[in-house]
Amino acid sequence: MTTAIEVMRGHRSIRKFTEQPLTGAQLEAIMASAQAAPSSSFLQASSVIRVTDPELRQSLMALCGNQAYVAAAAEFWVFCADFHRHLQWVPEAKTGFAEQLLIGAIDTALMGQNALTAAESLGLGGVFIGAVRNHPHELAALLGLPRGVIPLFGLCLGYPAQDPEPKPRLPAALMFWENRYPARQDETLMADYDARVRHYYQTRTGGTKDMSWTGQIGDTLAREARPFMLAFLHEQGFCLR
Ligand SMILES: Cc1cc2nc3c(=O)[nH]c(=O)nc-3n(C[C@H](O)[C@H](O)[C@H](O)COP(=O)(O)O)c2cc1C
Repeated sequence: MTTAIEVMRGHRSIRKFTEQPLTGAQLEAIMASAQAAPSSSFLQASSVIRVTDPELRQSLMALCGNQAYVAAAAEFWVFCADFHRHLQWVPEAKTGFAEQLLIGAIDTALMGQNALTAAESLGLGGVFIGAVRNHPHELAALLGLPRGVIPLFGLCLGYPAQDPEPKPRLPAALMFWENRYPARQDETLMADYDARVRHYYQTRTGGTKDMSWTGQIGDTLAREARPFMLAFLHEQGFCLR
């Protein structure tokens, strides 16, 4: 296996960090890796805000469901889809298409994953924070995000102060298909996976969490998913047509 594959296969989100800061060289390497990600039509439709102000970090933590690591991690970066700069340089640009939301989200996610993988290759750890979308208006105001820019996810980075087991993923046979999507998915494979996830949570939590994967997605998908998001996207000039 190559080092890159070992790093990617060893991924697990880290939510407890030491206080050790990152060096300038580490930061530069992670930023350059993020920027090296491919970009749809070379639009480079992304911006990243590195939040270094401790008071701002506290405010963001409060907006992100009080997840302590948003304030405590050595680094907290907010990854945004960004068409603001395109409108600055090409004022007549046609924006607001749903397709451009996908472009911005895909470009930015590729950057985020490159950043995390680069950090992990340096012995650091991290976790993405989708909770930056819990209160998008307030967060956009705090970060001064203009129309054309939306926060997609945060990234906490730092030296790990925990060593969790990698979380078991769906069997490849339930995610990778050949030539055509299957008529029906294999229930035996899914039941086996549910048992593995249940065992993973029981082991990790000393028996306090007893949850299968289908149980977990059932809970998650029973709730409304940030129903205010469509209005926020429209206000920021996304998904208008
Ligand atoms: C876009 C995105 C948003 C996420 N948001 C959060 C979050 O707000 N808080 C958190 O603790 N983990 C968050 N996660 C981490 C996931 O919970 C985690 O990746 C998943 O459970 C798989 O675990 P693993 O990363 O340890 O393999 C997020 C992950 C992604 C990709």
